Amino acid sequence: MTATVQFPDYVKHQQARNWITEMVALCQPDKVEFCDGSEAEYDRLCQELVDAGTYIKLNPELRPNSFLARSDPSDVARVEDRTYICSLNKNDAGPTNNWMNPKEMHGILNGLFDGCMKGRTMYVIPFSMGPLGSDIAHIGIEISDSAYVVTNMKIMTRMGAKVWDVLGTDGEFVPCMHTVGMPLKDGQKDIPWPCNPETKYIVHFPEERSIWSYGSGYGGNALLGKKCLALRIASVLGRDEGWMAEHMLILGVEDPQGEKTYVAAAFPSACGKTNFAMLIPPKPFLDEGWKVTTVGDDIAWIKPGPDGRLYAINPEAGYFGVAPGTSSKTNPNAIISCAKNTIFTNVALTDDGDVWWEGMDGDPPAHAIDWQGNDWTPDSGKKAAHPNSRFTAPAEQNPAIDPAWEDPKGVLIKAMMFGGRRATVVPLVYQSFNWSFGVYAGATMGSEQTAAAFGQVGEVRRDPFAMLPFAGYHMGSYFNHWLRMGRRVVDPPRIFNVNWFRKDKDGNFMWPGFGENMRILKWVVERANGRGRATESPLGYVPHYEDLDWRGLDFSKEQFQELQAVNRELWLQEILGHEALFVKLYDRMPNEFLNMRELLTSNLWRSPEKWDVDTAGTINS
Ligand code: GTP
Ligand code: SPV
Ligand code: MN
Repeated sequence: MTATVQFPDYVKHQQARNWITEMVALCQPDKVEFCDGSEAEYDRLCQELVDAGTYIKLNPELRPNSFLARSDPSDVARVEDRTYICSLNKNDAGPTNNWMNPKEMHGILNGLFDGCMKGRTMYVIPFSMGPLGSDIAHIGIEISDSAYVVTNMKIMTRMGAKVWDVLGTDGEFVPCMHTVGMPLKDGQKDIPWPCNPETKYIVHFPEERSIWSYGSGYGGNALLGKKCLALRIASVLGRDEGWMAEHMLILGVEDPQGEKTYVAAAFPSACGKTNFAMLIPPKPFLDEGWKVTTVGDDIAWIKPGPDGRLYAINPEAGYFGVAPGTSSKTNPNAIISCAKNTIFTNVALTDDGDVWWEGMDGDPPAHAIDWQGNDWTPDSGKKAAHPNSRFTAPAEQNPAIDPAWEDPKGVLIKAMMFGGRRATVVPLVYQSFNWSFGVYAGATMGSEQTAAAFGQVGEVRRDPFAMLPFAGYHMGSYFNHWLRMGRRVVDPPRIFNVNWFRKDKDGNFMWPGFGENMRILKWVVERANGRGRATESPLGYVPHYEDLDWRGLDFSKEQFQELQAVNRELWLQEILGHEALFVKLYDRMPNEFLNMRELLTSNLWRSPEKWDVDTAGTINS
């Protein structure tokens, strides 16, 4: 029987009340619960999830107040081919997004959502992206039939009754509809991870500013504040209002003199944002007083401040981080962040009730239960944790959290970095000649596909600004927006490109990465502050071997030169790859890009076939 809605007194927003009433009539849940965001509510829901077999409570001595969830094997990542931008006009979504006429899509969704919560509880989840009540923040209300979603949203966002106070009687909010898409018939017993294995829709209506998600319970498909609101809908708001919603981490670098520089960096999914945001500098740097602090690890909202410069906030309150590869060698701050009060999804369970994943410290356990619930041993020939397994951990547990991470004014961004996962072609680091060239470099970024989305893992695809799956409108217009921001902003950030993933002939990474990335970051910060030596390469400014700080690392000049080499033939091929993207986006491509492509080509032709830093003269700029 469908529930009648008992609104708590604090829900004073008539339009929201009407919407919720309407959605109850559509979804026909057995029960409606208004989430208040309290600890008591969190504990109760986790217990209910344990009782239902969705959560396994981990050993409280090894992993206090933490849980493991195993998803359905069909529901382990974002589903880009099921993700839609339903703008009124097809061309406003552009060729890189799936589109359907909004009326037609609403028709489909109304059919799918009709009775979709039968036998289930509907949770009403009010949340704020950004500090509660701050000018920059945006409020969403997610309606979901998943307690997994409620508990994850509690960690990932500012969630709870206080959001209704901020909304008042007529505040703006983004309505976010979510269902796992598996209604229960009378007496039917639920399964631990309900989802709809056949039908999934992740749908955005940019003009309505609403989100509808059907059939998945996982990550970016279901925690609608994250990619759906904070990137796809927010990118549209940013275009209209003159700011930027980006798939970027934000970090602070403090030098030994105490000067603080904030940097934002866009790397595609599973390409190192969380790791870079939590970087611990090598020992000689630490001893000297260098410090890196985290503002955010996945999403940045960037706006011009009163002084005309760009300031960034992290709209999230937690980390939904990739587990595999995370260890106290690669990312100690992440290990501490998820030491307690954490929800793990699709990692392995050890015999003593803790979690394990590939790349964790120490030897693999002799026996574990893998992410699909089966027995696992090191020689069973399969992965114990899914490659896209995740931890959901509160940001405040990060020992390196930046003191300003909740400052509603945001932090001043002096440098931006772009980087994909490229085994060949792209050098370790270069600085674009200026904002426009930087925008060109960001727009033409390529990366090998990872397990964070369904698709052919390893294939290089263009992923402009790491936003290919997240831009809520035409990618060509999005490029124009970036160029426009550069014209509006006072002293726009310097732009850098990095590639931590170049490989040698034997397939080994040529660059040690992780904490050692500090050596590159130090140069970036020096350049952004008008110091630091550089040389012109065909692509941009690059450091000489001597311009980087190598203390504590045995890395030869030859190795560095190999990493920095620019091969003309490969780059001409690369430019053809740019061209393929431009042709696709042709009717909204910025004209500037065509000129920049020509300049780049001409730079390559006037340089040696294999350019390296010692063939160029040194300039101080
Ligand atoms: P999303 O949460 O999907 O947006 O991913 P992310 O960009 O935050 O990536 P994350 O930092 O979680 O890293 C993903 C994978 O890349 C992990 O397996 C890391 O171990 C690996 N990785 C991160 N940084 C480096 C690096 O500097 N070098 C190498 N070789 N691998 C890295
Ligand atoms: C990503 O894929 O970029 C993620 C994970 O950060 S998800 O929340 O699923 O989008
Ligand atoms: Mn991400």
